[in-house]
Amino acid sequence: MKKFPKDFKWGVSTSSYQIEGGNNNSDWALWEEKRGIEKAGIACDSYRKYDKDIEALEKLNVNAYRFSIEWSRIEPKDGEWNLEALEYYKDLIKKLKSKGIEPFVTLFHFSLPLWISEQKGFENKKSIQYFKRYTEFIVENLGADVNFWITINEPVIFASLGYLDAEWPPGKRSYRKYLKVIKNLEQSHIISYKKINEVYKKYGWSKPAISMSFNNSNFEAKDFLSRIYIGIVKYIFNYSVINKVINYLDFIGLNVYFYNEIEFAPFKEGNLFFRKVKHDNLEKADVLGWEIYPKIMYNLVTDIYKRYKKDIYITENGISDTDDSRREKYIKDNLRYLLKSIDEGASVKGYFHWTLSDNFEWVNGYKAKFGLCYIDSSSERVLKKSGEYYAKIAQTNSLN
Ligand code: BGC
Repeated sequence: MKKFPKDFKWGVSTSSYQIEGGNNNSDWALWEEKRGIEKAGIACDSYRKYDKDIEALEKLNVNAYRFSIEWSRIEPKDGEWNLEALEYYKDLIKKLKSKGIEPFVTLFHFSLPLWISEQKGFENKKSIQYFKRYTEFIVENLGADVNFWITINEPVIFASLGYLDAEWPPGKRSYRKYLKVIKNLEQSHIISYKKINEVYKKYGWSKPAISMSFNNSNFEAKDFLSRIYIGIVKYIFNYSVINKVINYLDFIGLNVYFYNEIEFAPFKEGNLFFRKVKHDNLEKADVLGWEIYPKIMYNLVTDIYKRYKKDIYITENGISDTDDSRREKYIKDNLRYLLKSIDEGASVKGYFHWTLSDNFEWVNGYKAKFGLCYIDSSSERVLKKSGEYYAKIAQTNSLN
């Protein structure tokens, strides 16, 4: 049996748009309409059934919960605050604390208020000021009970799917716009980081820990030319934003999912020079087809720790697995590699599994099932076999 460090945080991660339901004021709701894709609709109904979420968290024995605030709900119009929604988050945080569960609060997890997306969202410099004002409102009202903040979830994924691949709102394809968005997200983080600290100081609350969650991919090269190529790709996707905001990160939040081996294969399958190698021997996360290669946990954590020497929290790691036949092994293998990186000196303070219950998986709707729980017809969150397994790990702080 291998023990994790003392005071290790065991958690699960969710995001507001994916679980709350009824968030029609968001650019995502419009996108679903426009693209004719499955709608988030009522989602897990967590806005009304959050007590059920908390019961499930207790059954999972976790001591931390990462969730996000739905900006489009809390500020439905420019400068107008929804006080009922504020009560919801207040109560959620209060109840979590009463159960000994530490809230990790994300301010922005992909879903924008319509009134901001109508002004070009994060392409517009004004978004920085909007984000600052929103941060201030949230922190003034919730900060007394929160020690951990994630300002922005996965800036590079958000910007590349929305501004390079046109898969997510606003559906654009422009490298110039992508760069603008990235720059504004970096600035938004910095301004939000400063604002959070300012509010805590004003009230004499003890200093919070603030970061972003970065979705870093593992890139490996099959040949010499690909090695040069992935050097550039790694810089753009894994390091460039961290480098820009490094002085404004109290820890590094890492979302670990993707394994990519790259080969030089000019003009094949619509690619210019390089393509992703397909590994038939690797197991796949069902519906989405992602290759499962748990060693990426070790590779990414050791790489980021060596580079930046900051505490790391794994703020997401998970697998889409319809019949729950692979999740237990996936968790075990990932945690084994996480322990290896800790044994070799990486300072890792916590692990959050994605996700609590099967929920709305963006353009993939409800068919991709990432939950440790499923939701039955009476809204009960029922632990799957993998959920029972994770509960044991969290309870014993160790891996068998
Ligand atoms: C995102 C989640 C998403 C998960 C699984 C992460 O990149 O933060 O919102 O559901 O991956 O795709």
